[in-house]
Amino acid sequence: MKERAVVEGVAWVGAVDWDRRLFDELIPLPDGTSYNAYLVRGAEKTVLMDSVDPGFTDVLLARLENGGVQRIDYVVCHHAEQDHSGAIPAVLAKYPEAVVLATEKCKGMIVDLLGIAPGRIRTVADRERIDIGGLTLEFIHFPWVHWPETMLTWLPERRILFTCDLFGSHLATSEMFAGNDPLVLPGAKRYYAEIMMPFRSFIQKNMEKVTVLEPALIAPSHGPIHDHPALILDAYREWLSAPPKNLVVVPYISMHDSTRRLVEHFVEACARLGVRAEQVNLAEPDVGKLAMLLVDAATIVIGTPTVLAGPHPKVAYAASLANLIRPKARFLSVIGSFSWGGKVVEQLAAMVPNLKVEIIPPVLARGVPKAEDQAALDRLAEAIAQKHATL
Ligand code: FEO
Repeated sequence: MKERAVVEGVAWVGAVDWDRRLFDELIPLPDGTSYNAYLVRGAEKTVLMDSVDPGFTDVLLARLENGGVQRIDYVVCHHAEQDHSGAIPAVLAKYPEAVVLATEKCKGMIVDLLGIAPGRIRTVADRERIDIGGLTLEFIHFPWVHWPETMLTWLPERRILFTCDLFGSHLATSEMFAGNDPLVLPGAKRYYAEIMMPFRSFIQKNMEKVTVLEPALIAPSHGPIHDHPALILDAYREWLSAPPKNLVVVPYISMHDSTRRLVEHFVEACARLGVRAEQVNLAEPDVGKLAMLLVDAATIVIGTPTVLAGPHPKVAYAASLANLIRPKARFLSVIGSFSWGGKVVEQLAAMVPNLKVEIIPPVLARGVPKAEDQAALDRLAEAIAQKHATL
């Protein structure tokens, strides 16, 4: 349990959570995660950047103790969520002189969430600078990455930007740096899709605050440090701002095989027309995989049987998730089977008010798919191909 040097004066003192498989009781973590905390030693002050998930408090404190840390002057709390702030009360107890630095909004949240005494918290203004002796902390207010209270910290003498959740990856690894290997991007994209995509427009508006700094290192609080920042910055520009791609995502569920047969016919029809289509069975969904596909998809086609006059509940769950993460899809349709009627399309459309999509007429088959249903699916695929030609 020792610290690891990042650059001169900056050490990693976080924790790797190899075994965690679910975050917020919602998001699958197939590759675990990490809670990165960093220690910055100025000539006059010692600063802890974030803490760790409460379950790893002992790991953080052991790294500090083994690093000979006698005094912490400041604990920078970039984000109030407990996977980063949860061990701050223990740090404050062990280091009684330490003061938490946070935005005004974050101060209120950590008082509420962690019971930290307001007198131990000092609020910092946007662009406020603190000299810690040969090193400077500059605080950059950057709300909605991932809650409204968030900020970043810039260490200009080392050209390090501490970003907490922003640019993170849920990845447990013993490698401290991401390197220049594009293989790190799928994990970062999954994380972006699940955590950052709902706030796409806020991040877009504020990306310039990051790029203008030309950081040498981007140090997030999940996953490896970006030592080739262009890789992650270029990826974010694409995920945030590029037009959606020629891709249809088909989340579906089938109870008695009719909807599955419709979906498979439709996916093949798309493929024949040069439209990539990915079907995602919601029986055992990996919502992270679905979210990743939604980063790029121009069209969502939901496949559902009719259950008690509405969509299957697992489809409704996926629709509500899609509504929460606000993908940039432009078109939406529904395919499925029914026996005696229902309001599937109306109910699904009402579940996704955040999606700014044009509804393409659905294909609903009575019972098992017949030739006329397959012809309707072919027409739906053609309509989508025409829409995608205008992207
Ligand atoms: Fe990693 Fe929003 O906490």
